[in-house]
Order: sequence, then structure tokens, then C-alpha cells
Amino acid sequence: MSKTPIRVLVTGAAGQIAYSLIPLIGKGDVFGPDQPVILHLLDIPMCQTVLDGVVLEVTDCAYPLVHGVVATVDEAVAFKDLDAAFLVGAMPRREGMERKDLLAANVKIFASQGKALAQHSKPTVRVLVVGNPANTNALICSKFAAPKIPSSSFTAMTRLDENRARAQVALNNGVPVCGVRNVFIWGNHSSTQFPDVSNATNNGTKLPFKGHDEGLISLVQKRGAAVIAARKLSSAMSAAKAAADHMRDWFQGTNEAVSMGVISDGSKYGAPNDVIFSFPCVVDGEKKWKIVEGLSLDDFAKNRLKVTGEELLAERSEALAATGGQL
Ligand code: NAD
Ligand code: LMR
Repeated sequence: MSKTPIRVLVTGAAGQIAYSLIPLIGKGDVFGPDQPVILHLLDIPMCQTVLDGVVLEVTDCAYPLVHGVVATVDEAVAFKDLDAAFLVGAMPRREGMERKDLLAANVKIFASQGKALAQHSKPTVRVLVVGNPANTNALICSKFAAPKIPSSSFTAMTRLDENRARAQVALNNGVPVCGVRNVFIWGNHSSTQFPDVSNATNNGTKLPFKGHDEGLISLVQKRGAAVIAARKLSSAMSAAKAAADHMRDWFQGTNEAVSMGVISDGSKYGAPNDVIFSFPCVVDGEKKWKIVEGLSLDDFAKNRLKVTGEELLAERSEALAATGGQL
């Protein structure tokens, strides 16, 4: 018997990332090859005509799994009865900016969408925040959606950083990327993130890292800026691929440890309480993530986690001030 369609929202649907992400959802790469979807596409009124054009193209793709499209500039319509949400729509940074420079402009979007989730979506909805600064936007969104939607249902995307680090590990070791595992991103999706290759394996065999690879750390921390410098636009194809990877693993489960920005309760690896912090996670068949425990961190790593955690605390204060502290 065929499955009931699920309702999947992509915000920023007239933007760059969405243009690469919608096809991955439509083809079944995210929710599975037998899971029909009803696509909800949200953008702002200024982008209505571009959004109309996206709908024309989605229609022309004739995806067998797409059982309907709801394209709108109205949050109440977009967030109705959702099972999954990709919150992509937000201003991207330009050359010379840090992602946290977007906080004041973007955080209000996520406060409003948190309220819309609580008012209109299913309480079981799973929300992936991509719009920057992703970790803090996810935190604010979860606070405005509480208590109807649990904070564990909000995650921020650090999978792009992980994919970048995996690719570098493969290149540096002269192996195909498909066998590389156990490369983790800790902390914030920002230039303080800590890409950790100390546990990296290839086809199950530990790769010969001694200590930490500072060249790789710096490359991954600055990769988003390198893409912007080259393209004059922020990453989109790779961001969409990472968003699809993240949501697929969350919806379908994975025994492989993958990096996800999730709510920290202050009890794991010295990360602060009440921030969305990227940890290595596994996901069960019930769409519940769990932080991988028992990894050892040396002093170098502990120090990196402290720095990125402090940045998240500072972002949280700024974000709460920007939303008028109306929680
Ligand atoms: P873009 O400018 O091409 O598209 C953004 C779209 O969002 C635009 O169409 C805009 O009109 C829309 N939008 C703005 N406010 C909205 C709102 N309130 N509701 C719905 N839509 C709204 O940008 P992009 O390249 O697609 O990037 C989107 C965001 O993703 C940026 O913040 C970017 O920095 C971030 N990003 C994050 C990662 C990550 O790894 N977490 C990676 C790449 C990009
Ligand atoms: C990225 O990592 O490519 C995105 O977060 C975009 C950016 O601003 O770097």
C-alpha cells in the first residue's frame, strides 16, 4: 500500500539553496524512494514572481513523489500541518562579513517562524535550520515554538562543514570520500567551529592522524568565505546536498555518527547549557537523535570547544536582545 504523503516546507524557496534542494526532495533522496511529499514553498512577497517560476519548474520536473505544491508568501499557509521543515530563507553574508553579523537581520525571521510552527504545524514536526547564523537561529526558533514543539525537534546544519572536512581527509589520504567516516564538527557553524579528524577512519580503519590537523581546521573554518570570495555568492549546491544528508539521516535513521547542531543540556563534553551545539550524533528509527558519548578530547580539543561554546553564549545574548527578550 502506498504511504500517506508528508508535508515538507522549504523556506527561501525562491533562493539559491532551495533551487538545488527542492530537486533532491522531489527525487526521493531525503525522505525515501517510496515516500510521497507535498511541497510547501515559502518566500517573501517581493519574490513572488520568482517563486511562481520555481513552481512552474517543479511541475515540469514531473516528480512521481511530489503529490502537491503549496507555494505561498503567507506563514500561516506555509506552516500548516508540517511533518518536516527546512528553514533556509534568510539573508546570506557577503564578502568580509562573519555569519554572526547576520544575527540582527535574520533572528526575527526565526522568532516569527517559531511561533508559526507552534500555531500551525504538527507537534511532531522536525525542523532543520540552515539560514545563518544557523545555531542561534535554531535556538531562537525553538524558544518561540515552545512548549508545543520540543527543543529536540530543532537542529542546525553543520553537515556542510562535516562534508567539507570529510572531503579534505579523503584528498589528503588519497582515498575516495565514500569510505571516510567519524569526522566531526563541534560547536558553532562559524569560524570558531572545531572540525575534528582525530577519530577519522577509512573503510573502518583508523587513519593515521597524530594530534590535530591545523591546516584542515583552518580550511574548513574558512571554506564558506572562500566560496563567497570565488562565486560572489554563498555556497548553494553543497549546502543543499548537506541539508538533504542531514534530514535524510534524521528521518530515516543512521548508525553512523554524523554532526548535527542540537540542543545542549550542559552535560556533554563541557558544552554550555541551552545553546544549539554541534556534536557527533546517531539517530534511531523513531527520528530521535542521541549524542555519541565516550569520545576522548585532549586539551587542544577542550580549548576549541570552550571557545566555540563561548561564542554561542554571546550570540544567544545578542539574539535575545534583538527579539526584545519576549520569550
Ligand atoms: P538567497 O538570498 O539566494 O535566498 C534566500 C531566500 O530567502 C530569498 O529568496 C529571500 O527572499 C528568502 N527570504 C528572506 N526572508 C524570508 C522569510 N522571512 N521567509 C521566507 N523566505 C525568506 O540565499 P541562500 O544562498 O539560499 O542562503 C540562505 C541562507 O542559508 C543564508 O542565511 C545563508 O547564509 C545560509 N547558509 C547556511 C549554510 C549552513 O551550512 N548552515 C550554508 C549555506 C548558506
Ligand atoms: C557556508 O558555510 O558556506 C555558509 O554558511 C555560507 C557562509 O556564509 O559561509
